[in-house]
Amino acid sequence: MLAGRRVLLGISGGVAAYKAAYLARRLIEAGADLEVILTDGAQQFVGKQTLAAIAGRPVHTRLFDGLSASPHTDLARWAEIIVVAPATANFLARAALGEGSDLLSATLLASKAPRLFAPAMHTEMWEQPATRRNSDQLVADGVHLVGPIQGALTSGDHGTGRMVEPDEILAEVIRILGPGDMAGLSVLVTAGGTREPIDPVRYIGNRSSGKMGNAIALDAARRGANVILITSAEAPDHENIAVVEVESAQQMADAAWSSLEGLDVAVMAAAVADFRPGRTSDTKMDRSAGPPTLAMEPTPDVLAGVAERSPETYLVGFAAEVGPLDRAIDKAKRKKVDLLVANDVSRPDSGFGTDTNQVMLVTPDGHRDVWPTMSKAEVAHRLWDTVLERR
Ligand code: PMT
Repeated sequence: MLAGRRVLLGISGGVAAYKAAYLARRLIEAGADLEVILTDGAQQFVGKQTLAAIAGRPVHTRLFDGLSASPHTDLARWAEIIVVAPATANFLARAALGEGSDLLSATLLASKAPRLFAPAMHTEMWEQPATRRNSDQLVADGVHLVGPIQGALTSGDHGTGRMVEPDEILAEVIRILGPGDMAGLSVLVTAGGTREPIDPVRYIGNRSSGKMGNAIALDAARRGANVILITSAEAPDHENIAVVEVESAQQMADAAWSSLEGLDVAVMAAAVADFRPGRTSDTKMDRSAGPPTLAMEPTPDVLAGVAERSPETYLVGFAAEVGPLDRAIDKAKRKKVDLLVANDVSRPDSGFGTDTNQVMLVTPDGHRDVWPTMSKAEVAHRLWDTVLERR
């Protein structure tokens, strides 16, 4: 239901925080990728260790944790949805004001993701004109509120103010996130670098780690697309990704060209060898025979084959340049792509093996869009936004 969807759960300081532990478990069971923020107040009610054990990773508590330069913006960019359960009267007031003095409120301020708050408090607090104003303001600001409902409250009281049950919050998360804006699309992504054998133990390869292609495949899968990932590198695990492992350019071409039926978009992020040894030795070449001379021959152009065989597929090529990206403008025309993503692989923040990339998008008519350096995950996300807009 939520396979791979990135859910940030914020827990503020009310008794219902104990139910947030169960909500965290239900989100994990639904397949969500979960991060948790506990406010100081929440830690009076539930322990960090409990939530960390459920989420399978450490929880976040501090705006200035000394570990990340900017934990609130990192979490804000990561989250597809921010759920706050329970949301106390104090939390609602600060959120309505746009106040950002702790990690949870600062993350909310830094995020454009949908927000879902599950208020929990005593009836008098919920009915206070100030709380009414705050919740009205939050709804006007686009926040989804679920509950509170009538029922047993702390101290033996009864009335409106009880947090809705975790399963109801889970259902709201599923409803809000929906099937994803790429649901129903069939996409192909190539990733990693090819290996062209010289003999049974040696090959000609390149420095591609597969990170860029993997990020593109994963983002599409999380947005609901059916993804075929043809790769020579370790692939991400997601139920929407079918992985085809290959080594050589020929294997990549065969795999790609046999996957074109009904294909909506192809993104060719792999670093494919342009040449391979014309002959491969069946036995390990012996040093005592002296240095061999390798006669090279061209490999198949995987991308060109996709363009030729499936003209209706929206085709995105990559261009690995060393130095200025101007050469990519001509490549965008020559390669018969709908969009070309050029990166300078000689930069320390771009290209092979890095976690970030600085790219320029080029269209065949010569239009250029230079993006700042960002994580490969963000490049992937923005690239799909662009493809969805243009196709
Ligand atoms: O994997 P990472 O470590 O994260 O690094 C990412 C990356 C640098 C590999 C990636 O961002 C990138 O630039 N990929 C394209 C590398 C490349 O082969 O560029 P090119 O300019 O040589 O090729 C242009 C396009 O033709 C590419 O889409 C390529 O996949 C395709 N091609 C090239 C040769 C060939 N025989 N068949 C092809 O399909």
